[in-house]
Amino acid sequence: MFDIDYLINTFDSALRTLHGVCNSSRPNPAAGIPQPELSDNERKYVADLMRVDHTGEICAQALYHGQALTAKNRHTRRHMLHAAEQEADHLHWCKQRLDELQGHASLLNPLWYAGSFAIGAAAGLAGNSWNLGFIMETERQVQAHLEQHLRQLPKQDQRSRAILRQIREDEIQHADNAMHAGGKPLPESVRRSMKFISRIMTITAYRI
Ligand SMILES: [Fe+2]
Ligand SMILES: [Fe+2]
Repeated sequence: MFDIDYLINTFDSALRTLHGVCNSSRPNPAAGIPQPELSDNERKYVADLMRVDHTGEICAQALYHGQALTAKNRHTRRHMLHAAEQEADHLHWCKQRLDELQGHASLLNPLWYAGSFAIGAAAGLAGNSWNLGFIMETERQVQAHLEQHLRQLPKQDQRSRAILRQIREDEIQHADNAMHAGGKPLPESVRRSMKFISRIMTITAYRI
């Protein structure tokens, strides 16, 4: 049913994602922006926000790879893998900013990766238009979440802001691409469950 090379690649990308061994294909949007002056409390606060965003990008990697594994059509699989490449940029930029802020990645990332991969694989099995609809909804929820973090960042932290703004632009594009590729809006009950799971992720990654 699955191509063995593809399974090995999927396992390899899981390990790379969780060990932070990923490169970005585009320059960091914060390049050239000076380090802001942050108090200890502000630095810790921004690191906590960036830890949540970093975990969100771990989940994005897992969702896209899970969806690509079970996608019923080659075009959709290519679409998933292309988006996953851009998500790898996001993951890398968030980790770089987290390191600059002397923050640490969430200890629960392996758990979130496994759960998100399973959810992504289930979405892939649900068929092409639901699979794409799931992306539309995920990316829209991520966009709303990023907008909230952009409002919460200290005014002077233009480095974190530049990264989150570029990520938001990409997520909007991912949602639009999925819609144009035939994504179907998800039922309200599914959307609510997705919001509930992402709320748990946000709360736990902020603390642990
Ligand atoms: Fe992303
Ligand atoms: Fe995305």
